[in-house]
Amino acid sequence: MSFDPYAPGFDADPHPTLRTLRESHPVYYWEAGRAYLVSRYDECLELLRDPRFGFMLEHWKHASEIPRTPLDDYFTGGLFNMDGADHLRVRKLMGPAFSPRGMERWRGVIEGIVAELLDDLAGEPSFDLVSRFSSQIPVRVISQILGVPRAHDAQFRTYATTVVRGVDPLQRRLLTQEQIDVLYAGRDLVHALIEERRSMLGDDMMSDLIRTEEAGDRLQTEELLMLVKSLLVAGSETTMHLLNFGALALMRHPDQLALARSRPEQMANAVDEVLRFDFMSRLGNPRFSLEPIEIAGSKIDAGEMVMPLMTSALRDPRRFSDPDRFDVTRDQRYNAAFGNGPHYCVGAGLARLEGQVALGALFERYPRLRLQAEPVYAFHPMLRNAASIQVAAE
Ligand code: HEM
Repeated sequence: MSFDPYAPGFDADPHPTLRTLRESHPVYYWEAGRAYLVSRYDECLELLRDPRFGFMLEHWKHASEIPRTPLDDYFTGGLFNMDGADHLRVRKLMGPAFSPRGMERWRGVIEGIVAELLDDLAGEPSFDLVSRFSSQIPVRVISQILGVPRAHDAQFRTYATTVVRGVDPLQRRLLTQEQIDVLYAGRDLVHALIEERRSMLGDDMMSDLIRTEEAGDRLQTEELLMLVKSLLVAGSETTMHLLNFGALALMRHPDQLALARSRPEQMANAVDEVLRFDFMSRLGNPRFSLEPIEIAGSKIDAGEMVMPLMTSALRDPRRFSDPDRFDVTRDQRYNAAFGNGPHYCVGAGLARLEGQVALGALFERYPRLRLQAEPVYAFHPMLRNAASIQVAAE
């Protein structure tokens, strides 16, 4: 078969292609991307946990062929690029700030941001859900919980968008000088925030990260700067697409919307079901084999790129019964949308909370919200990017 994750229509519905891959080629070498793709649930889960894979690009046998730019150093480092003991140490130090119980205290912040956006839409008969709602939420949330002062909020948001764009090595080459200046000014802004908090700790996440100490060890300024970048990169577009695909699935399944709205716990379960039913990844987070490895009978040399295709794994009938059915009451025990193993998503609790609050409030305000046109998808190297969703607010 020839697999093309950039083929027209793949973003809107990748599932027929993924089904063929999963059933006929569970480990597939994708020539154009020079990567092995793993598409069944069990093998994906093993891959996520397997210590014989590393995250650092230099483990890839083709790494030296990628032309470098001066900006690459800016993007080197980050939780995704760390392995082993270094990674474990930083994760431990971040733990308290991201504990699921700790997340609940941000509920009010998220509710406030969502209410403000919905108030701005009042009286408009139709609007674009992406630009007016879902794209606005995640970075505002990260900004407020980190404690970025209101006066710098706009600058922080521009910084966030630019960081997210620059994280892809190919898109990075297209950044203008003005955008590069935004990156360095944003870094200075976060640096100043860290210094300010160090001198006077407050009730925000940055203060929590600074405060945490494990056996005499603390996060250093460089590490805090790296973490803010990681949160923005990992936590903004993913959450935006959770809101987009969530609104889409609920509008397309009114019976499930009614169920989801019946109880807060049901909306919480619906958020996980959205991630299972329509995961936003076009491909999967790359990792690199540190030694020769066999997956489902396929031999993979050391130094290869391997990607777990979670969009496929979460629809694997070997694990989920009737996987193509959107069912907000489904048991979510095996849902691995937030990963598994040492790199399990730091922000899972926050993303879930944002999903529950934002989708809950959206359909509270507009119980009969409906799609006015099919969503418009736009190019994104890693994600199925629903760039515009025009809705009618009845
Ligand atoms: C629906 C939204 C989200 C989804 C589906 C998601 C999914 C994931 C997945 C699958 C991983 C593991 C990647 C791997 O093993 O290759 C991951 C890691 C990560 N996520 Fe999320 N995430 C979401 C939202 C967030 C948010 C809101 C934040 C923070 C504000 C966040 C921060 C991170 C970080 C920092 C990592 C790297 C952890 C590490 O390498 O140790 N994510 N996420």
